[in-house]
This record gives sequence, structure tokens and C-alpha cells, in this order.
Amino acid sequence: MTFRDRIVPAPALATDPPNALRRRLLLGAAVAVPAMALGSLAGSRWVSATSLPAGTPVRRSIGALAPDDPYVKLFKDGVGILRERSRRDPLDPTGWDALAVQHALYCSSIRPDLQIHWGWDFLTWHRAFCWSVERVMREAVKEPQFALPYWDSTRHRRIPAPYWGKDNPLHDATRQMGADDVIPDDFLDVEGALSLDSYYAFGGYPYDNPSGDMIEGNLEQGFHNNVHNWVGGNMGNFATAGFESLFTAHHNNVDRIWEMWRKTHGLAAEPQHDAWLQRSYSLVNEKGQREIVAVKDMLDTRRLGYVYDDYTVQPRQLPDPLLKDGTGVTLAVAGALKYSGRKPRILRFERANVPLHPLCCRVFLRDRTNPGNAPYVGTFTILPVQRGGAPGLDRNVVMQLALPETVREKVNHFASVEAVIVGVPLKGRAIPEAPIPLAKAELAHEVA
Ligand code: C2O
Repeated sequence: MTFRDRIVPAPALATDPPNALRRRLLLGAAVAVPAMALGSLAGSRWVSATSLPAGTPVRRSIGALAPDDPYVKLFKDGVGILRERSRRDPLDPTGWDALAVQHALYCSSIRPDLQIHWGWDFLTWHRAFCWSVERVMREAVKEPQFALPYWDSTRHRRIPAPYWGKDNPLHDATRQMGADDVIPDDFLDVEGALSLDSYYAFGGYPYDNPSGDMIEGNLEQGFHNNVHNWVGGNMGNFATAGFESLFTAHHNNVDRIWEMWRKTHGLAAEPQHDAWLQRSYSLVNEKGQREIVAVKDMLDTRRLGYVYDDYTVQPRQLPDPLLKDGTGVTLAVAGALKYSGRKPRILRFERANVPLHPLCCRVFLRDRTNPGNAPYVGTFTILPVQRGGAPGLDRNVVMQLALPETVREKVNHFASVEAVIVGVPLKGRAIPEAPIPLAKAELAHEVA
């Protein structure tokens, strides 16, 4: 079965939006809140007697919607209200900044022990975080059917129009890409990630795995990191990304791709043991109170109160990038080249534990005895780690690329193989002079 056969068709929406919301969506009734009126938001203008939940709120694809679409306007209002709360009181737990700061706490080196990237907390923590923001915002706009949008960057390769414009709460002036810039096709490839059978290889390994390293899931180090770094500015750094209004939209898309993986691999493919199921995270609920949620209670999005309007991605459209002569850093690759039974499914890299210049890379495997033979494997991105006097990451990070079937077949006939890693220049950003600090590459099997 090929990847395309396994793309799940978009489901019909479980339920229509309730009448009040539908009316609002159809008629495009004004939902904008003048900044001056924010003080009276507790008033009844948001509460409609007929807008009781009649189905699970639907997260919609914001790239497919016009900036003045009522669903988009409601989201903008929500972001505007939360930002205003933080202007009044930066510590308001239901304000934009206090929420965004949670991400900084869980990702930078201030508390390396709280790290939720580079491992198996990646999908689950971000699900909990977006869910928390969604609940806070739903309460703020007083619309029980409210759901956050997602940015399906595989189809909408520019930053969607609603995120731009003066006096727009969604605008972020730190972005290094403009409204007309298009993300390279291969940065958005999730085919390799979706092909992996191991949840760990897809979404991230336990932090206490025997290697002693942190091992990133394929979706995180490729697609997820690529988009962060491509947008740049706040989004290009874990410490500031939570402040960017694109953050939840990108993460909801990652969350949606996780749901796609679950639909094709089956729920039993996920870890079934308490070490994962009982992991829990602290979050802020719609009342601004602290709440603890365990992974086992987050695995059904309907129970959390959301579904997506679509569970498909657009596969890569363009042919593989080619390796240009004389470019890139080469690394000898260890591992079984002549496989008989199980074929290696992944290419692993170790990276040193240092804060790094953010960098998107393309990876090729080359036959050392026949350098013209260099199939393209995929991408990864290194995002910087805040240091500021504190140690960086407390361990090394291992990154993994899924090997496409076509590459596996070719590599099997290589006499000796090396990986070539090529930094991809992005607008306004230089490729660092220093060699990309990667050690040891090997072809390996997925580890269950
Ligand atoms: Cu916590 Cu997309 O980063």
C-alpha cells in the first residue's frame, strides 16, 4: 500500500454548527470587538441563547478562509482579547503572554529538566497547550462552538492572509518571511514520518531511553522544525515561538498529522504502558485555574472538545532536489548496507550538545565509489537552544530521517555510503561558516 492510498479522505463533519453560529458564519455578522469595548466583554453580546454546543467544535483550515470570514474574525477577536488582558496585567493567567511564556519555560535551558521537545512529550505537551489556549479563548469570545484554526502548510505554502496587516492581533512584525514567500515543497514533506510504524520514531523517544541521548521523532525534527525556522523571528526560536499567533495554528496542524498517523497505524501502535499514558502536564483552564491532564485522557480529541475539518495532507508536488557538486558536509555512514531480511528504515545523526545557529538542511546519501549516485533523503532543521549563562541541552540529540523505499533499494547496491548534508539558504539568514556539528551517522531500523 502506498502513502497515497493511505491518505484518509476528509470525513463529513459530525454535526453542523449550531444554528446561532451557522447564522453568524453564513451571514458574516460582525463579531469584531472594538478595543475600547473590551472592558465590557463579560456582557451578554457574545452569549446567544441558542448557541449551545450541538456537536464537537471544528478546527478549520485557516489558509482556506478569507481574512473576513466570520470564523477567522472570531479567532482574531479571541487573540485580541487575550493580548489586551496581558497589556493590562502581564501575569493574568488567561492572557496571551502568560500562556506564551509557558512554552518558553518548557523549551529553553532555564529548566532543562522540563524539556518537552526532542522526545516523546513533543506531541502530547503541545496538544495539551493548544487545548488550554483554545479553552481560554472559547471562554473569552463566549462562543461554545469556538475552535482554534490550523495552518495546513502542505496546501497553503504561504503564511495565510489572515495573519497579516496593521492593527491585526495576528500580525507578528518579527517574521523573516513576507506574505508572498512560499515554503520549499520538500520542507513540508510528511510522507516519511507517516510511513514510520514506531510511535517513537514518528513522534519522539522516551527521555530515559538506553542511549542516554534525546531522540527526536521524525515529524518534529523535519516538518515541525522546518516551518518554525522558515517563518523565523519569534517563530524561529523556542523561547519566543509561543508569542507568535501562528504557533497554535502550526501545532494544530502537527496535531492533525498525528491524528492521521493514528488513523493509518491504529491506536494500538502507540505506547500502551503507564510510563507514557500516565505522563501529565499542568495547564491553565478557561477560568485561569491550574489543571493537570494525563496523556491517557488526551488521546481522544472529541473528549477534549475538538475535531478537524480534514485529515489529509497534500503530498510533495516537485521532483527531488538534486545534490550540487561540491556542496555540503559529508559524513561516513555506518550500519548494515547489505541487508537481507529487515531493511534499515532510518538514517540517524548525532548532534553535539551546543546552542546552534538555526539551520534547515537537506540530506543526500552518496555512493563513495560513484559520487554521481546521490539520492535525496529528506530534511531536518536545527533550532537554537537558549543558553544565557545556563547550560544548553543537558544531553546530546539524535535526529532521524525516514528512508524512502526507493532510497533503501538504491543504497543496498552502494559499495560504501556517505551522507551529504546541505544547508538551505533562507531569506535574510546566512548559512553558518562553521561545519554543521554532526557526529556519527548510521542506517538503522526503527526501534519499537
Ligand atoms: Cu514547542 Cu513548535 O515548538
